[in-house]
Amino acid sequence: MSSDSRSPLVVTIDGPAASGKSSTSQMVAEALGMRHLDSGMIYRTVTAARLRIGGPPASWTEESVLAAASRATVAPGAPGATSFEPRLDGAECEAEIRGEAVTATVSLVAKMPRVRIWVNALVRATAATHEIVVDGRDMGTAVFPDARLKVWLVASPAERARRRVLQRTGREPTAAEVALETSELEARDLKDRQQTQPATDAVWIDTTGITQAEQVRRIVELATAKR
Ligand code: DC
Repeated sequence: MSSDSRSPLVVTIDGPAASGKSSTSQMVAEALGMRHLDSGMIYRTVTAARLRIGGPPASWTEESVLAAASRATVAPGAPGATSFEPRLDGAECEAEIRGEAVTATVSLVAKMPRVRIWVNALVRATAATHEIVVDGRDMGTAVFPDARLKVWLVASPAERARRRVLQRTGREPTAAEVALETSELEARDLKDRQQTQPATDAVWIDTTGITQAEQVRRIVELATAKR
């Protein structure tokens, strides 16, 4: 079900890891004069907060992660920015949340049901004060079942792997690099599969054979029609 045209516009963009959600969402938000919120960034910030406390991740309780979550928040970026930035104890923490330690443990945190409730409440509170393009795994299902536009972005695992290595190294990857990255991505897909589901009313966009500019153009066109 979709909400009527008087409610604030929320565009959800969901899909598996490395499907291009965040960069596409950012460009869509800029084109529409909205703000981009990356919900994966919030799971990462909560994970970084818990990592700062210490102890082996296998022993983390949900209570201890929730206690750490109270130190995490998101804030609108500098004037003119079209995204939200992660804050930990009030300070910007982008480099920390993109680091290896967080990437290796964030799936564990994202599986905790009460952490998901906490993150979802923060995302909804943010949408109450801004028109947002929000990306993640379950934004169109669990968080904004009434969003006016829901997009499900997909691409083949090999194409997602190719893009990821290209982004990291700045050059076209070898076949061996693509193969290695594909198996890592498939392992991640498996870890996150429970919460990574398309809404029944989502518009599917397969980005395997199209440019990012084309993806953005299609989504902006769909969103403009809903405004
Ligand atoms: O997209 P990402 O790599 O930044 O996501 C980080 C982790 O958070 C990943 O394990 C998937 C999870 N996640 C989630 O479970 N639900 C969301 N809405 C967004 C991310």
